[in-house]
Amino acid sequence: MQRIDGQSLAKKVQATVAQEVAQLKQEKNIVPGLAVILVGDDPASHAYVKMKAKACENVGFYSITHSMPDTISQDEIIATIEMMNANPRIDGILVQLPLPKHIDTNKILEVINPKKDVDGFHAYNVGRLVTGLDCFVACTPLGVMKMFEEYNIELRGKDVCVVGASNIVGKPMASLLLNAEATVTITHIHTKDLKAHTSRADIVVVGVGVPGLIKEDMVKEGAIVIDIGINRIADGSLVGDVDFKHVSPKCSYITPVPGGVGPMTIAMLLSNTLKSAKARV
Ligand code: GUN
Repeated sequence: MQRIDGQSLAKKVQATVAQEVAQLKQEKNIVPGLAVILVGDDPASHAYVKMKAKACENVGFYSITHSMPDTISQDEIIATIEMMNANPRIDGILVQLPLPKHIDTNKILEVINPKKDVDGFHAYNVGRLVTGLDCFVACTPLGVMKMFEEYNIELRGKDVCVVGASNIVGKPMASLLLNAEATVTITHIHTKDLKAHTSRADIVVVGVGVPGLIKEDMVKEGAIVIDIGINRIADGSLVGDVDFKHVSPKCSYITPVPGGVGPMTIAMLLSNTLKSAKARV
């Protein structure tokens, strides 16, 4: 069993980004800029946004965080996005999800200029991803693809089971895998027999937010298991969606939580923002 080390791969990606940022600044006087919009006071969202801002600082980006109370109106959020769309120093706009219930998330995401949609959530980028065209791809699934590449994990013809069909993770993950010529099954909360699907897969990718959902008897011997879940349990520790202790001995490769996919999400956000800055006209 080999652990896929997201922490060191993320560091490697960030070092490359930092180097390219320095070059971009020197050659074209461009400093990549990221705007983060944070609504409400969800502690996990605050923690993620803080990590994103810190990562921006570390690679030499300009970054601003617009923090808003959860009483804010949809129109006020839209006005802030429009301001960021028009700001030439901003290459990437990220609206931290989830948004409060009175806000229509799809409406908000549609306002972001697709050229600044470094989260890859706008329908324009989703459509281009499905079609196999160049676009901004959601950071978490993109980070998983980077891990496969780093560990020389072949995807063509593999049976991959994606557990979870969210717009943020499962659906873009399935599109990327399909584009890489894997045979993809997507399961979700209404799937009749989850185990029947996971246990025949060469690769299981799970991101649903249910601690320990994937158990030992649900994966085959030698499987590759990618755990996107990050759950804080009662004792305060962070665990994934996979029962790591019992599943890992069966795997050829597995990602730990923490230190697996999590750090890659931020690394890919930096990489997407740099890509946007390079495309400035
Ligand atoms: N909430 C959970 N994951 C993400 C993410 O990758 N981007 C944003 N904007 N919100 C999230």
